[in-house]
Amino acid sequence: MARRIPEPFRIKMVETIRQTTAEDRRQALQQAGWNPFLLKAEDVYIDLLTDSGTGAMSDRQWAGLMMGDEAYAGSRNFHHLADTVREVFGYAHTIPTHQGRGAEQILFPELVKRCRGQRPVFLSNYHFDTTKAHVELAGARAVNALTPQALDTGTAYDWKGDFDLPRLREIVAAEGDNVAAVIITITCNSAGGQPVSMGNIRAVSELARAHGIPVVIDAARFAENAWFIRQRDPAYAGASIVSIVREMFDCGDMFTMSAKKDGLVNIGGLCCFKDDEALFRAVQVNCVPMEGFVTYGGLAGRDMEALAIGLKEGLDDAFLSYRIGQVAYLGERLCEGGVPIQTPTGGHAVFVDARLLLPHIPAEQFPAHALACELYLEGGVRAVEIGSLLLGRNPQTGKQEPSPFELMRLTIPRRVYTNDHMDYIADCLIEVKKRAGAVRGLTFEYEPPILRHFMARLRPV
Ligand code: F0G
Repeated sequence: MARRIPEPFRIKMVETIRQTTAEDRRQALQQAGWNPFLLKAEDVYIDLLTDSGTGAMSDRQWAGLMMGDEAYAGSRNFHHLADTVREVFGYAHTIPTHQGRGAEQILFPELVKRCRGQRPVFLSNYHFDTTKAHVELAGARAVNALTPQALDTGTAYDWKGDFDLPRLREIVAAEGDNVAAVIITITCNSAGGQPVSMGNIRAVSELARAHGIPVVIDAARFAENAWFIRQRDPAYAGASIVSIVREMFDCGDMFTMSAKKDGLVNIGGLCCFKDDEALFRAVQVNCVPMEGFVTYGGLAGRDMEALAIGLKEGLDDAFLSYRIGQVAYLGERLCEGGVPIQTPTGGHAVFVDARLLLPHIPAEQFPAHALACELYLEGGVRAVEIGSLLLGRNPQTGKQEPSPFELMRLTIPRRVYTNDHMDYIADCLIEVKKRAGAVRGLTFEYEPPILRHFMARLRPV
C-alpha cells in the first residue's frame, strides 16, 4: 500500500465540533425543509458543503491580520496584494473584491458593452452557477462546451475539465461577433474539480486570440490545476508549480478569482488584468458603487494582507500534495466500498454519482440532494447537490433544464479535517449505500424563483 501523506502542519488551536443523535438530526433536517443549506452549522458534525472560505489560515496569515492598514484609500495591504499578483501571475492591474462573484458583477457588464454582436454570449468549459447568473444579469447568454469524457464518471480520464475543442470551434464560428468572452474555469468545479490540461488552455487561448475574443480565467482553484498539470503531463514533470501557474495565466487576458479557495482566506476575491488598462479603468469605475473604493473592494486591509500571504502559501508543494492526496484518499475508500464516484477524484472534492447509486429516483426528485439528506441523517455529514436542483429551470420556458450530472459533492475544506475524518465520512456513506434502495426522492414545498437550491424547502415523496 502506498504510504499516505500526513498533514504537513501541526495543530496549534482547536475548535470543538459536536456529534448529535440520529433523532436530533431528523428533527434538524425536518426544520430545515430537507435542505442542508438551511441547517444550523452547529447541528453539523463534519461540514463538506463547500471548500469556499472554510479553510484554516496559517500562523503567518493570522499574524498578517495584525498588520492591517485600515486606510480607506491606498492601504499598504492593497499594495502588498497587487505586488503579489504581479509576482505570481504577471498581471499588471489588480482590483480586490469581496469574493469571486463581486469580480464577476463588475467585469461582465464591461465585456458585454465591448461585444460587437447583438446577442452576446460567454463560452466556458463550464460556468459556475454564480458565473452563469452574472452573465445573464449582464444581459448575455452562458454556453458550456465541456469535454464529453467528463460525463462518463466511471472511466478515469486525466483532463475531465477540458473544453470540447471541436464544439468550441463550431460555436465560435456560428456566433461570430456575439462572443463576448471565453471563460476558462480552472479547475472545472462543476465537472468534479477536474483539471484543464495546459494543451487545452493554450488551444482555447489561441482560438480566442485568432478571433479577437478576450480570455477570462476563472481562477478559484488555479493552484490545484497547476498541481494536476505537473502530476499528469510528462512535459511538466520537473516544472515548478510557480512556473506552471505563470504559463497558464500567460494564456489569459484577465482573471476573476474567488480567493476563498486556493487563496486560503475566509473572504476575498480578485479581478485582475494582464495589460488592458482601458478595461481595467472601466471595471474600476464599476467597483466603486458595487464593491467599494478601488483599493479595498469590500475587504478590510487585514483581509487583503491575509490574502497576499495565502496566495503564495497555496502554491507550496508539500501542501498541495497533501491536500489533493487527502481528497484522493477519501475517493479510494469510497471506491473500495462500492460507492460510484467521478473518477479520478478532483482537486477539492469527491463527487458521488447519485444517478448510479440511486437509479430509482428520477432527476425531478433530485437523487443527489436526497443522498445528501440521507448522509446527514446517517452521520451528521453535510454535503451538497450538484445536479438538477442546482441547475434549475429554463428562464424562458419554465421547464427543468436537463442536467448532465446528478452528483453529490463532498467538498473538503483546506487544512481543517484530518484523515480520520475522511475515514468517518467514508464509513457513513458506505452505510447509506447498504440501504440505497430505500432512500426516497424529494419534492418542493417552496421553490424560490432564482438560485432555488439555497432557500428551497422540500419533503420526501
Ligand atoms: N467560480 C468558481 C469556479 C467557483 O467555484 C465559485 C464559488 C465562484 C466562481 C464564485 O465565487 O463564491 O467567492 O463568489 N464556488 C463555491 C463553491 C461557492 O461552493 O463551489 P464566490
